[in-house]
Amino acid sequence: MQDQLSSVLAKAAAELSAVKSRPEFEAAKARCVGPHGELTLLMKQMGTVPKEQRPVVGKLINETKTQLQALLDATLARIVAAELAAQLGPAVDPTLPSTDAGPGTHHPLTLVREEMCRILRKVGFTVADGPEVESEYYCFDALNTPADHPARDEKDTFYFPVNARFSNVSKRVAGEKYLLRTHTSSVQIRTMLQGPPPLRIVSPGRVYRRDTSDATHSANFHQLECLYVDRNVTVRDLKALLDYIFAALLGKDTLTRFRPHYFGYTEPSFEVDLSASHLPKVNKPWIEIGGCGMVDPTVFEAVGYDSEVWSGYAFGMGLERLAMLLYGIDDIRYFYQNDLRFLKQFA
Ligand code: DAH
Repeated sequence: MQDQLSSVLAKAAAELSAVKSRPEFEAAKARCVGPHGELTLLMKQMGTVPKEQRPVVGKLINETKTQLQALLDATLARIVAAELAAQLGPAVDPTLPSTDAGPGTHHPLTLVREEMCRILRKVGFTVADGPEVESEYYCFDALNTPADHPARDEKDTFYFPVNARFSNVSKRVAGEKYLLRTHTSSVQIRTMLQGPPPLRIVSPGRVYRRDTSDATHSANFHQLECLYVDRNVTVRDLKALLDYIFAALLGKDTLTRFRPHYFGYTEPSFEVDLSASHLPKVNKPWIEIGGCGMVDPTVFEAVGYDSEVWSGYAFGMGLERLAMLLYGIDDIRYFYQNDLRFLKQFA
């Protein structure tokens, strides 16, 4: 019996070592331990073994069974590993450069943002940044926009729950709430609080409003803000700068005009319109592009600037609107869908 068991084991080891696939494995397994397998047949002979030898033979059979099972397990593990390797294909070196990705391109909003910053840098502006999560102080209070102003309404602005915490954006006033900034004008306050005038900054960035998305509205969009503070700044300087940047961006045939308006943080305040009928898809003589004005003395006081000494202008405008004019895009939603057919047109 011992010899027979040894030969079953040796034969199984030889067979299993040649097995390459699951069906081959299952067949080999059946030949050893299946209902008609060699080990099974030997076990059936236990009945013919004399009683006193049975404990020894039983032990031998059990040992053989354990060894066979170990062989089967090892063979199956080898097959599974081979299957996985076949699925993964040849080994790749992930540190090599990709073979199929061409160089990326800039998003049209990035193109307009960078072009505007370039135009403004040429006349002395530096780029300033601010957080998209703001506190009410920077977004409204310091900009002379009191608590009952409609822009602060729950309907128009995304507020965070009172207990929300942002460790990188500190509150200035006890009890004020966090919100997603509704405009980039908050960067005016942050910049002025950082140091004394004169200063000249441009701040592009993402802003948020509770708007229902359609061809001209999106709940998040982009603005570009400018602030200039110096001695003896006048409305003429503001108009001259707007004329310069729009002519530089949209072509020298572009005209700007001011319409009186109200913003809490500028006095006087204006809305700015563009005439750019030389551009594709522009079918109105004047298109509203942003708001501007002379910095209100209350804003200077909020940041500790002497409003008797310092004067300044500020303006803000939508980057999407500019990009739509420049490239003849008629639906704001194209900017956010990441459709390559759209994006590739700006490559
Ligand atoms: N913050 C205004 C808006 O989002 C735009 C604006 C108006 C910005 C007047 C200014 C300004 O800096 O002086 O509609």
